[in-house]
Amino acid sequence: MSVLKPQATANATPAADVEPLEQRAAAVQQVPLQDEAAPKSELPMDYPRWLTQELRSDQAGEVGAVMIYRGILAVSRNTAIREFAEHHLQTERKHLAEINALLPRAQRSRLLPLWRIAGFLTGALPALFGAKAVFATIEAVETFVDQHYAAQIARLDAEQSFPSLRATLNQCRLDEVAHRDEAADNLSSSPGMLLSTWCRIVGGGSAFAVSLAKQF
Ligand SMILES: [Fe+2]
Ligand SMILES: [Fe+2]
Repeated sequence: MSVLKPQATANATPAADVEPLEQRAAAVQQVPLQDEAAPKSELPMDYPRWLTQELRSDQAGEVGAVMIYRGILAVSRNTAIREFAEHHLQTERKHLAEINALLPRAQRSRLLPLWRIAGFLTGALPALFGAKAVFATIEAVETFVDQHYAAQIARLDAEQSFPSLRATLNQCRLDEVAHRDEAADNLSSSPGMLLSTWCRIVGGGSAFAVSLAKQF
């Protein structure tokens, strides 16, 4: 008479993407890849390569975002602009802390000094020209960032992976949308040709920065 033996329990996959960084770093050798299609590389997290690159660009972007508002605050003496920048700076610091917790230092962009300078200038330069330039710049930046996060979220949805990480990215995206809309609401009139050109440069520069940060 045969006796049914209990089957070996399959390894439960922990919700690794929400654990504190220290725990994750310690446990990474034991945690199986969540995405079996991902290369079994030396990646310190169990993210597929594309997601590590995306998070690297997010981390660089949030560093840049913090510096944009610090750049504005370094230049502007306008009370309304300073309140706007201080409020947004708090949110960007929160975003940066959340993305930092998801991505170990070794996986972050090696070009962070460049992103800091670029972010500072993206805030400080328009602040030299006044409120309209600042609000138009923030609208342009946040329009790009919304699309950037939305594309990542769409891919995570398509792959049905990393739901906690997805929730973090989506919360960041919603905050960026609120920043964009607040900046747009503060714009009293449409930007002129010069300011529109600057905003296109900011949007294009953001896209170029993301492509570089994914690689370096
Ligand atoms: Fe942000
Ligand atoms: Fe933002």
